[in-house]
Amino acid sequence: MAVIVIDHLPADEAPLRCPSGWDRLVELADSRYRIRPIRPMDAPLYPYFLRMVSEDDLRLRYLSTSKPFSPERIMKLTQIDFERDVACVATDEPSGQLAGVVRYGGQPDRQGAEFAILARSDLHGIELGRELLLQLSSYARAHGIRRIYGLVRRDNVPTFALASSLGFVSRSHRDDHTLVDVAKELIGRSAAAVTGRTMSDRMLEVQP
Ligand SMILES: CC(C)(COP(=O)(O)OP(=O)(O)OC[C@H]1O[C@@H](n2cnc3c(N)ncnc32)[C@H](O)[C@@H]1OP(=O)(O)O)[C@@H](O)C(=O)NCCC(=O)NCCS
Repeated sequence: MAVIVIDHLPADEAPLRCPSGWDRLVELADSRYRIRPIRPMDAPLYPYFLRMVSEDDLRLRYLSTSKPFSPERIMKLTQIDFERDVACVATDEPSGQLAGVVRYGGQPDRQGAEFAILARSDLHGIELGRELLLQLSSYARAHGIRRIYGLVRRDNVPTFALASSLGFVSRSHRDDHTLVDVAKELIGRSAAAVTGRTMSDRMLEVQP
């Protein structure tokens, strides 16, 4: 595995502290995964994770051919200002390898946040995507974000299945007919009311 060295940032550029209380263990397809906020120490996990993601999935995630994942880019992906943005990972237990990532960039007024999600291609279909998006939606709601939305390629069947089963509504993109906006209002509706299920269905343990 390639080793990525993370330089220490000057104090005024250091990422804010990882939020606590958003760490849980779930069991999916006889394996255990920890769902938790991303942290800078996750950077060395990225090269293996990315090797396990197909080119097609990367294109679906980035809506284009992805730029190379330089150590600097990976550093940016893992050093999050949790005041504005959020990223959560699923890691395999006990190996600690990265299995999936979900993130959003918030708007300063907290009206909405755009999410993006990526799971390892060899682990699709075991509901990792569902657990990650549920975690992100719960986090966003708890932090006063009113609406969570994403831009999805029209042929991205798995993401539509995932989003619609979690109560997201799809609408054709205004300018680009190859894209669809999926969005969910978070304030005033609970995920459980929409999905009939809660994150705790598969939760084994919550870390303080
Ligand atoms: C989107 C993604 C994260 C879903 O992850 P996943 O762990 O496979 O999803 P889940 O196992 O939680 O399944 C969620 C739903 O999708 C459905 N699904 C999963 N793979 C599917 C497939 N290949 N075809 C059709 N439906 C599929 C599941 O049946 C499930 O539907 P349900 O809720 O109605 O039962 C994953 O496909 C991925 O990483 N795709 C590439 C990146 C991407 O497209 N990102 C979205 C744009 S940002």
